Amino acid sequence: MGDLLDKHIVLGISGGIACYKSADLVRRLIEQGATVDVVMTDSACKFVTPVTFQALSGRPVYTDLWDNRAPNNMVHINLTRQADLVLIAPATANLMAKLAQGLADDLLTTLCLASTKPLMIAPAMNREMWQAPSTQRNVSQLRTDGVQILGPGTGEQACGETGDGRMLEPHELVAAVRAHFQPKTMKGLSVLLTAGPTCEPIDPVRVITNRSSGKTGYALAQAAHEAGAQVTLVSGPTGLPCPPGVTRISVQTAQQMHQAVMQHASTSDIFIAVAAVADWRVANASTEKLKKTDGQPPKLEFAINPDILKDVAGMANGPWCVGFAAETTLDPEQAQAKRQRKAVPLLIANLAQQVMDADHTTIHLVDDTGMTAMGTGHKLDIARKLMSEIYKRYRQHQA
Ligand code: CTP
Repeated sequence: MGDLLDKHIVLGISGGIACYKSADLVRRLIEQGATVDVVMTDSACKFVTPVTFQALSGRPVYTDLWDNRAPNNMVHINLTRQADLVLIAPATANLMAKLAQGLADDLLTTLCLASTKPLMIAPAMNREMWQAPSTQRNVSQLRTDGVQILGPGTGEQACGETGDGRMLEPHELVAAVRAHFQPKTMKGLSVLLTAGPTCEPIDPVRVITNRSSGKTGYALAQAAHEAGAQVTLVSGPTGLPCPPGVTRISVQTAQQMHQAVMQHASTSDIFIAVAAVADWRVANASTEKLKKTDGQPPKLEFAINPDILKDVAGMANGPWCVGFAAETTLDPEQAQAKRQRKAVPLLIANLAQQVMDADHTTIHLVDDTGMTAMGTGHKLDIARKLMSEIYKRYRQHQA
């Protein structure tokens, strides 16, 4: 079961075409273990029928303020009393205007007014409606009132236009809900990470690179964000979406990664180097595509790339540093030697052939007391465990 076990969510659905995505959202929330009570406005019922949401949630769907199924006839009070969170997705411009004004003219707006539970809304509307001064005023009023605004995303819209106003995708909304329920132990801290491979050009069409999917680094970035930290992820090329709430800086080469990290290191509290950085770059890279003219392979010359982790660890007043080592054999002495060479208090060692490209990982912690196994699991689960271990050690170091 997922992260939302025992969590009770009231999902409000207002009338926009993005309603069809809310069906998938319900399914995903339930997959994570949540109990979902769906409340729909009249307009939402014109897009998708309550039957769809009843079938997906396995619970009655509420559409009417005067619903008399509850013995006390106060469905607008009962629903949020049991809830841990109210999520409205999609939230139309009209619904946001009503919430900002405290209007209560249907079940959804009335229960929001009567609720003391956290409220998240996922706006969805045409880009002109989103940019309208009145909508922007309402957004800022809602933020001031403590409402968490999720998105909106940018892209092609149902109206045929392109711009801001798309509802975030269901998986992004679920990520935000999961993040909401994680303990915010790292609030106020700034975490900098590297992830993925670097690509060192041989010529404009060829590169030398390291094998790395970036999954572990991205999972750690997500875990740090969920724990309330401000997260900057300097990433080499990966096919992964940026975890919601994380600032990603995309780079290609080790030198670019080094430069981006150095720009942010002095303002970071913790630095976690997960990237598989290419140790060498091609010193005589060609600006033109190399041709197989005489059947001879090109003679490549190499230069040594900067050691990003070592440079950050060597900074006066730099962040607290964590390194990674993916090895083909796990030798505690070699791992310890690498940790000392990098001058970091903590090194995370794993077996490259076991973890590369995989969704699961097995990690070992290497510190000045030796090497200890931390277990096997899905990369996000292990990342969360590891992030709380990193935070614990960071706090001890600060004390
Ligand atoms: N690292 C780095 N910059 C480099 C090389 C490595 O920041 N130029 C970081 C990695 O992100 C990782 C740690 O250093 O956190 C160890 O990387 P690894 O490749 O295992 O170590 P190397 O120093 O390159 O040693 P070797 O490849 O010889 O094992």
